[in-house]
Amino acid sequence: MLIRTHTCGQLRETNVGQTVRLNGWVNSYRDHGNLIFIDLRDRYGLTQLVFDKEDDSGGGMMDAADKLRNEDVVAIEGAVRVRIGGENPKLETGKVEVVVSKLEVLSKTANPPFIPDETQKLPNEELRLTHRYLDLRRPTMQKTLGLRHRVYQVTRRYFDENGFLEIETPVLYKSTPEGAREFLVPSRHVPGTFYALPQSPQLFKQILMVSGCDRYMQICRCFRDEDPRADRQAEFTQIDLEMSFVRREQVMETMEGFVRRLWKDVCGVDVPPLKRMTYREAMEEYGIDRPDTRYGLRIRDISDFAGTLGFAIFDGALAKGKDRPRFNSKRGVVKAIRVPGGAEKLTRKLTDGYTEFVKTFGAGGVAVVKVVKGDDGGPKLDTGIAKFLEPKRAEFVALLGCEIGDTVLFVADVYSVATKAIGELRQKVARDMGLVPKPGAEGGPWNFLWVVDFPMFERNKDTGKWVAMHHPFTSPTDDQMQAFLDADVDDEVTIEGIVSAGYDIVLNGQEIAGGSVRIHDQAVQSKVFQLLGMTPEQAREKFSFLLEALGYGAPPHAGIAFGLDRLVMNFVGTDNIRDVIAFPKTQTGADLMTRAPSTVPNSQLKDVHVQVIAPPAGG
Ligand code: AMO
Repeated sequence: MLIRTHTCGQLRETNVGQTVRLNGWVNSYRDHGNLIFIDLRDRYGLTQLVFDKEDDSGGGMMDAADKLRNEDVVAIEGAVRVRIGGENPKLETGKVEVVVSKLEVLSKTANPPFIPDETQKLPNEELRLTHRYLDLRRPTMQKTLGLRHRVYQVTRRYFDENGFLEIETPVLYKSTPEGAREFLVPSRHVPGTFYALPQSPQLFKQILMVSGCDRYMQICRCFRDEDPRADRQAEFTQIDLEMSFVRREQVMETMEGFVRRLWKDVCGVDVPPLKRMTYREAMEEYGIDRPDTRYGLRIRDISDFAGTLGFAIFDGALAKGKDRPRFNSKRGVVKAIRVPGGAEKLTRKLTDGYTEFVKTFGAGGVAVVKVVKGDDGGPKLDTGIAKFLEPKRAEFVALLGCEIGDTVLFVADVYSVATKAIGELRQKVARDMGLVPKPGAEGGPWNFLWVVDFPMFERNKDTGKWVAMHHPFTSPTDDQMQAFLDADVDDEVTIEGIVSAGYDIVLNGQEIAGGSVRIHDQAVQSKVFQLLGMTPEQAREKFSFLLEALGYGAPPHAGIAFGLDRLVMNFVGTDNIRDVIAFPKTQTGADLMTRAPSTVPNSQLKDVHVQVIAPPAGG
């Protein structure tokens, strides 16, 4: 075989006159009578090859060249010369071409289902995932894999420099409650028992702190059997970190340093110090705990004003949970968003659709009013609920800072429902108004935020039980510790008000990292388990190893995990997580290329003591 001397992205004018060997794939083929031009492709780029019939020294090379087709794999030898047909400025090798004197066909391709050529329309994702080996040949995918590699390298370097040890933790693990459904693996040795694949290495990293490892890092695979979304896969990668003898501030400082290094090294961007926002501010102004601050459309709580209008829907909402404290999930509120320019852009059809939209989040509907020009040239309220607002127009206009051309949208319900609904609505309106920039790859904006001071617990919508908002190993903040230990399990209002020492990093409305200060005290950990509805026996049965470890000298510790796939999504500028994973799974968790999951022979099932009660349809 003609082993390569250069890659297909390497040759420049300085190589002119040299005899070189290249290996790669036929990217394109043009027959110009006496001349055949081929762009040869590998991971590094494209180089133009020229086969000249006049120069053919016999031996059948031209015949073989004639038969070359896209995606054949070849090796060539030839002389580098300045391009006769003029430079191609789009290619790094665009000043030169190689006149081929020897051709070796290494592998002929069958007729490919598609060509990994990005100048043409891409085939649908299903076909691309089925033949991922072809899809990964696309320059964009090669670039993505390169970027991802770079993220791994910068990560390892940064944390190594900061004294973190890279330690692997088991993938065959024990079932633990971190929120999502788990993937189970049956044991062959003990019939009827199962491993769970880890949703994250949370407990192992805490145990490593108890073991004296002080600073841990791992780039690890996590498994959560939940429905995939645009930025969620059942199998994904975390940069997982834990530190001993620290509080929140030290973790935040170290992680900010990492973010700054990563952005600088991967895309040359200087990230300024990260802003901080409390969970409460985020929920009040953005209706979500991962606010996208690239656009305004801030939410306002106008409950006090709304209660003076005599509008039955507002009054009905405000009558709920009146004696509960502010921000309590069951207290009625009225919230509004002022949409500058909305009067023109948000058509009746769109605003009618908003009511259906918020219903999916449990709210009753959206009230609308437009601010138009009145006869006196000043603002006048029009359409929707204008008749209730007109008598208090001046007060309303001053309260929200309304201007002519605005649309104002209102949602009234109990706090948890109204906040969620209007937060989702804000994002939808931003899309409808064309306010959402493309993902950051094109130079930003990069709006980073720390979100802090989350509630410890929230009610599960379906079961009504308390669940840990981050995970059950998250500590209350130091100043809330006593209130937490004193809280009665049935004291709903107090429990809802306990603040945790958790923190998230949000980038352009996406959660890219989440972590917390951990509980390092047995009594506090047991109290959390109790609040989550576990009896002491159940807690011991599931977590005896953790409770025991905490009893043998546990240092205060804290940590965080970054979603590595999401980081890469931002660098690439895609909102599809599958674009940044070499072999991703579809919406239904299928790997289309290998056709996993699949049935297995009965003998294999018997080995692991499993009986299938519902064979797959058609199986
Ligand atoms: P958490 O569950 O917040 O925390 O996850 C940390 C980060 O991982 C990313 N992420 C995901 N990415 C892709 N697909 C998913 N299904 C998915 N789920 C999460 C997010 C998220 O911010 N053990 C804790 C961390 C800790 O406390 O140290 C944990 O796993 O970017």
